[in-house]
Amino acid sequence: MKLVIAKDYDEMSKQAARLLADEVTRNPETVLGLATGGTPVGMYRELVELCRTEGIDFSRATSFNLDEYVGLPGHHPQSYRTYMEQNLFSHINLPADQTNIPRGDAADLAAECQRYEQAIAAAGGIDIQVLGIGNNGHIGFNEPGSGQETTTRVVQLTESTIQANARFFDTIDEVPTQAVSMGIRTILGAKKIVLLASGEAKAEAVRRMIEGEMTADVPASLLQQHPDVTVIVDEEAASRL
Ligand code: GLP
Repeated sequence: MKLVIAKDYDEMSKQAARLLADEVTRNPETVLGLATGGTPVGMYRELVELCRTEGIDFSRATSFNLDEYVGLPGHHPQSYRTYMEQNLFSHINLPADQTNIPRGDAADLAAECQRYEQAIAAAGGIDIQVLGIGNNGHIGFNEPGSGQETTTRVVQLTESTIQANARFFDTIDEVPTQAVSMGIRTILGAKKIVLLASGEAKAEAVRRMIEGEMTADVPASLLQQHPDVTVIVDEEAASRL
């Protein structure tokens, strides 16, 4: 794993946006793997700014998001589809039909998971996958216990993840308890991975990901076996390394 320690959140966001912009400039047909959560908001903001100042062209790119809440239609204010529209898609020239996010409201979720895996394969796989990390070491919604054989599937969210994500909802009862998430095998299939973490609350998860043993108990530690992972953290998230 390549570790980059940025001074603060803004610096982390800028470095990550630069990586993505360079990738799309180098290969206009890049298949992007995208993440949600609070952490990448700054990266998307910087990326939109780079598009404005440097005219980065996403018209031939494709994107696949990591996950979506079960039960939320795409237009729900807290869906990850809405998040992506607000933070990135509405600001860049990536065509809507080249953006992919699992359908959390699909009638047949098992079929939706299969369809999603096939769509990623049909696109030639993910070139660069962005990840955040949960306080318990989850990536995407691969909670502790998610092994490296897992692919896109319906997952049960842990109580700590539901609590951590409650800040985006009016009440904790509104937080979905399940999600559709790419699996660890899906994520490890990406050619390049960029993981972002910011703040003291992530420091222990970051330490276990980088310095701990490789175990499904800390799903992010399974990234240690991937040949091209760049971890960009701010100083607080790096404080236990
Ligand atoms: C959610 C998302 C993850 C994200 C994690 C951390 O569970 N499914 O992709 O990495 O939260 O979120 P945050 O960046 O808000 O701390």
